[in-house]
Formats: sequence, structure tokens, C-alpha cells
Amino acid sequence: MIRERAYPVEPWHVRETRLDMDVLAQSESVFALSNGHVGLRGNLDEGEPHGLPGTYLNSFYELRPLPYAEAGFGFPESGQTVVNVTNGKLIRLLVDDEPLDVRYGELLSHERVLDMRDGTLHRSVHWRSPAGREVRVRSTRLVSFRQRAAAAINYEVEVADDKPLRLIIQSELVANETLPPQSKDPRVAAVLESPLLAEEELTTDDGGLLIHRTKVSGLRVAAAMDHEVQTEARTTVESEGYEDWVRTTIACVLKPGETLRVVKYLVYGWSSRRSLPALRDQVGAALAAARLDGWEGLLREQREYLDDFWKSADVLVEGDPEVQQAVRFGLFHVLQAGARAERRPIAAKGLTGPGYDGHAFWDTEMFVLPVLTYTHPPAVRDALYWRHRTLAAAHERARTLNLKGAAFPWRTIEGPESSGYWPAGTAAFHIAADVADAVRRYVLATCDTDVEREIGLELLVETARLWRSLGHHDRHGQFHIDGVTGPDEYTAVKNDNIYTNLMAQRNLISAADAVMRYRDEAFHLGVTDEEAAAWRDAAASMHIPYDEEIDVHEQVEGFTRLQEWEFAETPAEKYPLLLHYPYFDLYRKQVVKQSDLVLAMHWRGDAFTPDQKLRNFLYYERRTVRDSSLSACTQAVLAAEVGYPELAHLYLREAALMDLHDLNENTRDGVHMASLAGAWIALIAGFGGLRDHDGMLSFAPRLSSRLSRLEFSLQWRGMRLRVDVRPHQTTYTLRDGESDDTMDLRHHGERIQLTRAEPVTVPIPQLEVSGPTPEQPPGRGPLLRLPERSP
Ligand code: BGC
Repeated sequence: MIRERAYPVEPWHVRETRLDMDVLAQSESVFALSNGHVGLRGNLDEGEPHGLPGTYLNSFYELRPLPYAEAGFGFPESGQTVVNVTNGKLIRLLVDDEPLDVRYGELLSHERVLDMRDGTLHRSVHWRSPAGREVRVRSTRLVSFRQRAAAAINYEVEVADDKPLRLIIQSELVANETLPPQSKDPRVAAVLESPLLAEEELTTDDGGLLIHRTKVSGLRVAAAMDHEVQTEARTTVESEGYEDWVRTTIACVLKPGETLRVVKYLVYGWSSRRSLPALRDQVGAALAAARLDGWEGLLREQREYLDDFWKSADVLVEGDPEVQQAVRFGLFHVLQAGARAERRPIAAKGLTGPGYDGHAFWDTEMFVLPVLTYTHPPAVRDALYWRHRTLAAAHERARTLNLKGAAFPWRTIEGPESSGYWPAGTAAFHIAADVADAVRRYVLATCDTDVEREIGLELLVETARLWRSLGHHDRHGQFHIDGVTGPDEYTAVKNDNIYTNLMAQRNLISAADAVMRYRDEAFHLGVTDEEAAAWRDAAASMHIPYDEEIDVHEQVEGFTRLQEWEFAETPAEKYPLLLHYPYFDLYRKQVVKQSDLVLAMHWRGDAFTPDQKLRNFLYYERRTVRDSSLSACTQAVLAAEVGYPELAHLYLREAALMDLHDLNENTRDGVHMASLAGAWIALIAGFGGLRDHDGMLSFAPRLSSRLSRLEFSLQWRGMRLRVDVRPHQTTYTLRDGESDDTMDLRHHGERIQLTRAEPVTVPIPQLEVSGPTPEQPPGRGPLLRLPERSP
């Protein structure tokens, strides 16, 4: 585990001051660079030692068999899995006779810095070879936000002692790297080991290119590199290539005081359709574009792109510097995952690691997109286009399941269901409502009626159709959705999951409303007035399970009468429970993996009274073990809402520091995108109280005692709303947009109209302390405490 304070607390950087081999894989995820299209793990330039080599292209996958001991009708037969493509990060250095390898000789200093304003990863190394020669190496790496196909590395070497030194740089493209075993199943391993078939290799003096194809999915990938060499010393440069690797070798003798500088331009392209010559030309052109900008140009563009992003996305947190750093780190990774994904998915790990096979889940729509909606809406538009592109697969899945409309997959890369486990897979039908809610939120925040007309309407209609066919009216007319799994994966295939029902209810109403706005388009989708009326009817009679006896809502019908989990007899080492107890036992008891009903109280807070929220929160808090990283942020939001700001702060820290502290001990497989997005959600929806239930933004700001200020911006219909929360008052300022623009919002229930003319400052009502102290299952409270106050 990355120990507390592994990275010093700095507002705009994540710095690692010494190389810790024990956490190499985790730091590779933390230091991963991506633009949503290309992703490079933070592997060392020389490739070794590594935790997990990784280079990914969004949606470049291989198909692998999904073996079942006992198969059933409708079980997917193959799944998609992300492929580690050609590694172009490699730059090896020979110092006289010895390869620079930090495991040998002496590592006199080693520092890596992720710069979140520049969008670069810096590394500086001072190394003494076993033969006693010293070099300093500085490298800076970027994956360009502006040039989608391009990455670049600026690599500089200096002699650090007083004698001339012979240096050989070998810069490479390597396909089919050896990876740690990914599956114990030999059938799966057979597909995933050396997944790329060589098609072409080509070298020029300064670089080269490799083209490969996957064996089963038939996708073609091209990687190309080129180099610029600058030095006072005489150099030779030559390149050679073979099936799986291309190498450019740069040799020179460097005198003390001289520098050898190499800029490596690296580009990628992939396609399922384009011919080999077309792909070859594509990467050739991308390389020319990168060289045209040059290293300085790429750096400048990167900074400009990020300045623009931070201008409207930055969050200022005073009182907890760790959270300040972490929320920027989270936003940076969320942007990296979505910025240039361009109608491709945003995976649960982005492009930072192979975790979850590179699949996208509901994490995208319910955690990542809410953040991007208000900070970088174009990425949301693209993500919605991606879901829309997968509609054919979702229709087919629905037909297989004998349902109507669209059954979106629980996990996928390109659209088909890649989950082989029904109870925590397709049964989580709520993903349909999550997609619909992402459409609703995006349209509300942007008024982008083109997108609504072009794809939004169809997504709403097809998901509404799913609910209407999945659910049924009972003999009293009540509408039920039976046999489904909600967000809590320890309660599976049950009737009337409250989150699913409430989100489906909103989905049905949103669809019926959209049909009214786009009558012609709806007609083309075959929607009749009767169908839309049936949606409204189902929504109006949606069953919401409630236990009258103890006055709390039920997460699923009958939940509160299930046997209690024996928390007192569950030792700490038995968590996460799913790895130590059979699912059958988890499924039949009151134990909650992650916020479910509490999540419903966030996104459908309009369906609960304040008293109900408080009682429900306390009840489910005692039963929630947070074996998923998708829980802490929601618990923060509700804790803040029902009057526990100090607890909210602790949950905020857990969500925000999930990867910087490797809290779940699996950051090695990639960062937890939902939890990183959750840091923003915990701050803005928790301490800012942001909600949008009735189509208007409302806030209920209230800070924890540790925070002295929270300032954030939201993009809203072409305007920028700046919210500055202090302990006793909040200032709302409207920026950008037209000079006569106005905006209506609510502050603690009071309506405010903002104009561009002047900010509005309003007091924060005193918190009325109400409920008893919330309790969690023993040992399952928030994972991080508050650090001591600095003197
Ligand atoms: C969670 C899911 C989540 C998935 C991917 C699981 O552990 O229970 O809610 O979608 O991880 O992050």
C-alpha cells in the first residue's frame, strides 16, 4: 500500500521523491498519462523494472472466451478485453558498458512529478553505474490533448562526473510485451498472450513504424516514432526493425557539461475497417503534425488546453490541503479519461491500467459524467454518442432476454455484454436509467437541443421501453420491477430495488416529456400517444418499498426483514466480504456493499422527506461495509445533507485519496475513476449541496468545521457560475455568457435571481443538530482520519 503521505502535499503537483520498488505498479497508475484516446502507464523510460507495462488505445480490444462451468440461455460467450498495445515509451540508455537500470549501481536521486497544469510527467534521475560513472537524466512525457494521436518524450542526458562518457540511447517500439499472467484459464491465456500479429514493420533513419492486428477481434493498430537529436557532440543515428520491435539507436561521446537531448514523437492509430496502407498513412500524417508543432509547441498547446479546463473546472479547498491536491488529481484523471474519447467509452479505470478488462460500467454515467457535465460538457456529449452507437447491441441483448427497448450491458468496451455473471451483471438493469439520467442532466445543463433531438430522445425512448417491458402492474395497479440488482452487489436479483425504481420512474417521465417536445422524431421511433401514456402511468404507480413498522425505506422489497449480518463476528481480514464469503450468504442478509438506497436519496432526493432521509441514512449506515470504492462519495453527500458535516468530510477524504493512498490496495490495476470523480461530487454535492431535481440548480452549502472555504465553478447554459462558500455565507457570481443573461437558483430553499451585473452574497443558515451519532459496522468507518491541524 502507498503509505500515508507517500506524495508530499502540493496544490498542483503529485511528486514522488524517491523510487519505491514496492509500489511501482501503483505509481504507474497514479502517473499514467492519457487523453482518452491514448493511455500510457507511468512506466519508467527504460521499461524495467516495471510493475505492469501498459499502453492502451480506447476501444482497442481482443475477444476472449467466457468459460462457464454450467452455461445458460443468454449467457454471453465471449467478452472484450483491453489489449496492451505496442509500447512506444521505451528509451533505454547505455552508460559506457552498462545499461541504466535503477536496480544496479547507485540511484543517487530519483524524482517524478505529475504536473496537473502543464499536463506532463517529469522524471529526474541521478545514477552512478556499477563501474562508477555518473549521469543525470531528465525526461518529460506528455500525451497531447490537442493532437489526439500523439505523445512525446523530451529526454536529456548529462555527464555528472568529470570525464567524457560514451552514451547509447535505444528508443523503441515493442509489441507483445511479456505481461504478468492475466488469467488462470488456459483458453483465455492463449488469446491474451502475444495478442498482436505482425503485419508490417518499417524504418527510417530517425524512427520507424509497426503495424499489428489482433487475432480474433481483427483490429489493426499502427504505432510510429520519430526523433530529433540535439547535442554539441558528434552522434550517429540508425534504425532497425523486426516483426515485434523497431529500434532507433543514437550513439555519442559526451563531454562533461554537454547535454544529449532527444525528442521522441510517438503516434498511434487503430481501426477495425481501414486498410493497412490507410493506417500507415494515418500515423505518418500524425507524426508530421506532431513534428510540425515540435516539443515546445506541444508543451504550449498542452498548457493552453489545461488553462482553459482549469478556468472553469478548478475547485479551491481551504482547510484540508490533502483534499485540495486530491480533488485536482481526480479532476485531472477524469479529464484525461474523457477529453478526447470522442464517441468511445470512458472505462472504470480510464486508460490507466488493465483493471476490469478495460470495461466501462455505470461508473461512467453516474459518477464521471455528472462531473464532466458541469466542467467539460463536450466530453459528456461524446460519451452519450458512444452509448447511442451501442444501441444495436443493446436492442439485441433486450431481444435475447425477451424484453423491449434497449438493455445496455453491465460491462463492455464496444457494446456487447461482457459480464458472465448474471446477478452482478445484466441483472443490474439500472444502467438503463443511469444512461437516461446522464442525457437528462446534460440537456438540462447545456440546452443542447441538437444532441437531444439526434440521440437523446432515442436513448430516453428505448430505455423507457425497457422499463415498461421489464416491469409490470400488479392487480392493484402498482408498478413493480422484479428480479433485478441495484447498485449494492451484496443484494442481488430482488424485487423492487428502490434505486432502480426511482431512477426508472424519472427515466419514464423524461422520455414521455421528450416525446412531447419532439413529436415528429418520436413518431419516427414508433412512439404512440398510448405508449407515452403507459410510461407516465408506470411512473405514477411505481412501487416504493417502505417498512411502516420501523419507518425506513427498504432498499429492496423485504430487505428490513432479512437476517442481520453478524458484523461482530466478522474480523477485519475478512473484508472485502465477496472474497471470503459465498454470495448466497451475502445475498440473503442485511449487508450492503455500497450505497444503494443512499444513492437514491442523492439523485432522487426529491422522493424523500428530510426526516426520511435522516432515518434511512442512519439505518443503512449501520449496514454498509463499503467494499466498493463507489460508496464513500455518496455517503459524504448524504451525511452532509442530513446534518453530519464532520462525517461527510471523512468520507470525502476516503473518496478523494483512494488512489493517492492506495486505500483499496488495487490501484496497481488502474485508478478508480468513479471515486476520483467522487471527490468532486462529495465536495460540490456534499458541502455545496448541488442538486438539480426540478430542472433548476439548487445549493445548500455548509462546510465542515475544518474547511474555511470551498470555491467552485459550474458551466451552465453557456454561462459560468462561480460559487464561493465560506463558513457563514456564500457568494454566487455569474460569468461569461451574454451581458443580459440571468440565472435562477435556490440557496437553502430560497430563490435567487443572478445577473451578470453583480454577485449575490447570502448567509448560510445555522445547522440544527438533530440526529444521533451515525454508526458503521465495526471497523468499517471512514478509512482516513483528519490529519492534525498544522500549528
Ligand atoms: C462495483 C460496481 C462498479 C464496478 C466497477 C464494482 O466493485 O460494485 O458498482 O461498477 O466495481 O467500478
